Amino acid sequence: MTTPVLAVEGLDVEFPSYGEAPVRALHGLDLSIGEQEIVGLVGESGSGKTTLARAIMQLVPPPGRISQGSVSFEGRDLSKLDEEQLRTLRGRAMSMVIANPRSELNPLLTVGQQIGNILKYHTGCKGRELRERVIEMLKEVRIPDPERRYDAFPHELSGGMAQRVVMAIALICNPRLVISDDATSGLDVTVQAQVLELLKRLAERHRTAMLFITRDIGITAHFCDRVAIIYGGEIMEIATRARFFANPMHPYSVLLLAAFSHNPKLRSYWLKEGEAAAEARPAETGCPFAPRCVRVREHCRSVHPELRELEAGHHVRCHFPVERRA
Ligand SMILES: Nc1ncnc2c1ncn2[C@@H]1O[C@H](COP(=O)(O)OP(=O)(O)O)[C@@H](O)[C@H]1O
Ligand code: SF4
Ligand SMILES: [Mg+2]
Repeated sequence: MTTPVLAVEGLDVEFPSYGEAPVRALHGLDLSIGEQEIVGLVGESGSGKTTLARAIMQLVPPPGRISQGSVSFEGRDLSKLDEEQLRTLRGRAMSMVIANPRSELNPLLTVGQQIGNILKYHTGCKGRELRERVIEMLKEVRIPDPERRYDAFPHELSGGMAQRVVMAIALICNPRLVISDDATSGLDVTVQAQVLELLKRLAERHRTAMLFITRDIGITAHFCDRVAIIYGGEIMEIATRARFFANPMHPYSVLLLAAFSHNPKLRSYWLKEGEAAAEARPAETGCPFAPRCVRVREHCRSVHPELRELEAGHHVRCHFPVERRA
């Protein structure tokens, strides 16, 4: 078997909380991503998606910390690398695209400088070659009139354009893994579709693996090779896209799919920052989803369910999964 690009094993991340037990943002999380694979990670606000992205980059904000488990990148345990080695890795071998592109960009530097700085830092490329490679990248992310945009400042760009610049920064060094964290959520629907289409095409062309984080399960139906559902810091279900959508087995997955396919009002409620999550905290003992589950039984409240492989490549964390459809 080839080494996966990313292997997360038994990962726990904690945030200390004054006078109380620490918040366990991730709990025993396993996830691997193969070469050129796109894995969609879906969960509501507060489920631990950004914490996972940061833990992978070894950027959990202190005093938060990885308290257990490991993150390996191309077979290397990242906890064994020093800050210098991690800096070399970030931006070059793995990079991140996040929402709010404007806050990501430095308002005082031109588009060309910001993309160019990354390339220069990691490869030493400079002068005319640097400019040419940056302009090439601007063309790749479909920025019209790239020669002129090279000298533009972030405030001169539309939201969609700024997001493309952030993508160019993430992709300029040809990383092996890109993590996209809710990157298209702030954009209007049409622009979002264009940016997604572009991101997928670029990942294919550059043979980049991707962890695609979103609150919108609908997007993963067109975009991802595998789909993982996260709730309360744990993977609840993971399967290939085809198996997942043909036969979702976790009650939370079924709920998400129903909300997204039938009811636009429910869908927007679900996507609104924090709303759905505020409804009920994940349970501390037993199944984290128990407080909201329509299938809950007594057993669920006391025994924590393991992630089990219920059909080939389809893992579900539930004592009473939804039965297979005929
Ligand atoms: N810097 C932090 N300090 C304290 N708690 C945090 C911090 N970042 C995240 N958390 C907690 O970790 C959990 C997961 O948050 P997060 O990873 O941001 O979720 P998501 O990205 O899915 O919305 C939440 O309960 C959140 O309150
Ligand atoms: S284990 Fe029980 S409470 Fe948890 S999702 Fe399954 S049926 Fe619902
Ligand atoms: Mg987040």
